[in-house]
Amino acid sequence: MSGERKLFSKEEIKQHNDGRSCWLIIHDKVYDVTEFLEEHPGGEEVLLELAGSDGSESFEDVGHSTDAREIMEKYLVGELKEEERVKKEPKKDTGLPTDVKESASIPPMVLVAASIVVGLCAVAFFFLK
Ligand code: HEM
Repeated sequence: MSGERKLFSKEEIKQHNDGRSCWLIIHDKVYDVTEFLEEHPGGEEVLLELAGSDGSESFEDVGHSTDAREIMEKYLVGELKEEERVKKEPKKDTGLPTDVKESASIPPMVLVAASIVVGLCAVAFFFLK
């Protein structure tokens, strides 16, 4: 088990941005994935692209398995300095695109318009018979 945890600044982490030393920030934790580059099932390119920066979003976008989350613990080298951590709002991840809205609410104007149309049809039906 990795005992104590070191704290790093983003500035420090930024230095580890290539194949010789590749660090990633994921959820405010710092991972040295240099040795993992070749083993990553998603390829080393994606990791190198994010090297030295925050890969939390990309990591979650992929929807990594619990297996992947266990593997990454092996590469944990420390954490982001307290004052540099991103306090993001936990986003509601429903897995649905944001434009899929519930169609429960029909605007009142639409209802009024619909009633008028129905009313006119009824009158027309009555007189044209
Ligand atoms: C320490 C960090 C990471 C570890 C340990 C890790 C591990 C893994 C593992 C085990 C898989 C196989 C599928 C699974 O088990 O979910 C995987 C797939 C993948 N990873 Fe990562 N990953 C890491 C970071 C990242 C990051 C930052 C990205 C950025 C985009 C990424 C992109 C991908 C992609 C695209 C796949 C899918 C490959 C496919 O389905 O063909 N990974 N990763």
